[in-house]
Amino acid sequence: MHQPGPRLASSTDLQGVLALAERKISPCNEAIYQRIREGDTWQSEYDLYVCDGTEGLRGFLVLKKHLTRGITGDRESVICDFFAPHVPDQTSLLDCAADAARSYDSQFLTIEIAPHDKHLREVLEGQGYRLESHRISVATADCRPPEASPYSVRLAEAQDHFSIAVLNSMMLEHTLSAERDYDLSELTFRSMEAIFQQLSRQDEGCVALVLTRGQELVAHLLLELMGETGYIYDLAVAREHWGGTAVRHIMRSGSQLLFQRNIPLLAGDVSACNLRALQFARRALGFSVDSQRFGRRLR
Ligand SMILES: CC(C)(COP(=O)(O)OP(=O)(O)OC[C@H]1O[C@@H](n2cnc3c(N)ncnc32)[C@H](O)[C@@H]1OP(=O)(O)O)[C@@H](O)C(=O)NCCC(=O)NCCS
Repeated sequence: MHQPGPRLASSTDLQGVLALAERKISPCNEAIYQRIREGDTWQSEYDLYVCDGTEGLRGFLVLKKHLTRGITGDRESVICDFFAPHVPDQTSLLDCAADAARSYDSQFLTIEIAPHDKHLREVLEGQGYRLESHRISVATADCRPPEASPYSVRLAEAQDHFSIAVLNSMMLEHTLSAERDYDLSELTFRSMEAIFQQLSRQDEGCVALVLTRGQELVAHLLLELMGETGYIYDLAVAREHWGGTAVRHIMRSGSQLLFQRNIPLLAGDVSACNLRALQFARRALGFSVDSQRFGRRLR
């Protein structure tokens, strides 16, 4: 029997969407449902698509219409939440999201999924989505710096900013999202500028640590404080110090600093092509992968 395709939801669908959302196994994007429940102006930012069945809704998809990524300038639409138990509804909702994203002039359409959701991963890969990055996190702890270390850690000072920006730009190939082609020379200066801006923030939202050996700046860790989370805005260790204790030292200091400020979580995004960073984070620091971002190139 022919099933009608997805359509934009109307206000009478909202109860049905919220009921379906409760059947999801993977966590929902609660902030959006809060906005939908409160009936504020979410429609200016999001599209909500639904699939009709004979006995109510069979699926839904929430699309953030448009965002522009800092540094790269990538134009992107984001599937913020998505649920349909049956594969034909899943593919038609995803097709619908891709059409909408194109109409918003997005270059990419992305979605974050739970790492154990093999079924959805297959559906996405079947539609041309590729793994771009991992969202990782670990509880902060009152870590002690390694004893007898050749390194020391301190808060960054204004005279460190240039060295931090240079080290960041040298590591760009490791930190940019996988599966997107970038002109590194073009991004170098934009990335350095973003680092300078982050370091010059006057608010309490950015903490910058540097690791030194003697006069040499060996590594930096920039944390962005967001409520319960210290987000790793940038982490880089100078190439000659890879494979030693440098990264462990600065990361433990970062974890301890957050712990002492009652911030319970340390989180970050690791590019899918950066297996070294992922391996290190999991094995040496106990990070786990919370979600994986898949992206589809639209143009
Ligand atoms: C990520 C980074 C901070 C890690 O520091 P490091 O000193 O290189 O880390 P370590 O050598 O202690 O650990 C790397 C681990 O990855 C493993 N590894 C290396 N290459 C790998 C690969 N291609 N695939 C899988 N694992 C790999 C190493 O064997 C090591 O694991 P082990 O200690 O269990 O043997 C550093 O490499 C760096 O600055 N990279 C560039 C910037 C960057 O990626 N920043 C992180 C953004 S999230």
